[in-house]
Amino acid sequence: MILLDGRKTANDIKEEIAVEVSSLIAAGSKKPHLAAILVGTDGASETYVSAKVRACKEVGFRSTLVRLDNKVLESDLLSEIEEINNNKDIDGLIVQLPLPDHIDEMKITQAIDPIIDVDGFHPQNIGRMALNLPTYLPATPAGILELLGRYNVETAGKHCVVIGRSHIVGSPISILMARNNNPGNCTVTLTHSRTQNLKDITKTADILIVALGKSEFITTDMVKDGVCIIDVGITRVRSNTTKSGWKLLGDVAFEGVKNKCSFITPVPGGVGPMTIAMLLKNTLKSAKRVVY
Ligand code: GUN
Repeated sequence: MILLDGRKTANDIKEEIAVEVSSLIAAGSKKPHLAAILVGTDGASETYVSAKVRACKEVGFRSTLVRLDNKVLESDLLSEIEEINNNKDIDGLIVQLPLPDHIDEMKITQAIDPIIDVDGFHPQNIGRMALNLPTYLPATPAGILELLGRYNVETAGKHCVVIGRSHIVGSPISILMARNNNPGNCTVTLTHSRTQNLKDITKTADILIVALGKSEFITTDMVKDGVCIIDVGITRVRSNTTKSGWKLLGDVAFEGVKNKCSFITPVPGGVGPMTIAMLLKNTLKSAKRVVY
């Protein structure tokens, strides 16, 4: 079994980005600049956004964090986005999801100028992804591809089973794994809450990508020998074996399942750190005008 070490790979990528930033600046360019909007004080979102801001600093980017109250009017959030869209110094804009219920997430996603949509969530960028055109790939799916690529996991002709059809992970990764690319060229089965006989399907997976948000859902009896597992889930649960009283669990019951795997991502330290590295990569792409 080979551990797909997202922490190490993300650090490698951040070092590569830092080197590129130094040479851009030496050549007279400005620092790449990422703006993030955080609405409310959700604990998980606070953690993710502060990790993104910290990562910007590590690679030599500038970052701007806009904090808005949980009760902010949708129209005020739209005005904030418009202002950032028109700010020529900013290369990338993300609005951290989820948003409060009174705000239409799809409307917000569509308000971001596709040119600075470094999350790759705008319908125009999703369309470009589906057509294999240059774009910003959503960061978590891009991180999965990067891990598979850097560890030379064979994907062509393999059966890839995806669990979960979210706009952020399941749906885009199912498109990417089927594209005529490397990594890619898989036969993909996208499963979700209405899928029947899920275990019959997961047992046929050569590559299993789990983005469900249910801790330790995948057990040993659900996978075949030699499977490559990508675990996107991350759930915080109470624990009496850690100092903090909490631990993080993935969607896979790691201890048993790992013995059947050719490759597996740990949680934490697998897909999570890769997501941030790929967001930085998209921001660098925008600063270099590689996509648009
Ligand atoms: N919430 C969970 N994942 C993401 C992400 O990749 N981008 C944004 N903007 N919000 C998220």
